[in-house]
Amino acid sequence: MSETLTILNDGNKEEQYLNLLPQIASLVAGETDQIANFANVSAVLKTAFNFLWVGFYRVVQQELVLGPFQGPIACTRIAYGKGVCGQSWKQGATLIVPDVNQFSGHIACSSLSQSEIVVPLIDHDEVIAVLDIDSEQLNMFDDIDQKYLEMIVTYLIR
Ligand code: SME
Repeated sequence: MSETLTILNDGNKEEQYLNLLPQIASLVAGETDQIANFANVSAVLKTAFNFLWVGFYRVVQQELVLGPFQGPIACTRIAYGKGVCGQSWKQGATLIVPDVNQFSGHIACSSLSQSEIVVPLIDHDEVIAVLDIDSEQLNMFDDIDQKYLEMIVTYLIR
């Protein structure tokens, strides 16, 4: 595994994701430990895009429990259906929230967070974790983020 990450300094968001995809694939390919891979993928996304918060919540005994992340401290447990993360788990679908202040039930871990995307990790029809990304900017996430983040999380299913 290469331990250097190549980040594009110019280029648009899609080019940045396309540049990252093979690097993430090779970063996680040789490692079977899911938590180790969650940790490195959080670091890659935080480094590449400088989002406010990037991390994982794992489904543990019918709750989402905080896993590896990069950013400010966060709440450790989220119930099924609660917040954006709990809703993504319940719906088994990616949720994009352009303005978290307009999302009823949003759990504010940081008052700086303005928009959010949550992508579920689905293994044999079951959500096993979610990838949560928060931004300090409104409307940060769109279908391009959804497309590539959904691809990235498939690399993390073991
Ligand atoms: N905002 C999330 C909670 C997790 S933190 O943002 C890290 C939610 O509403 O589910």
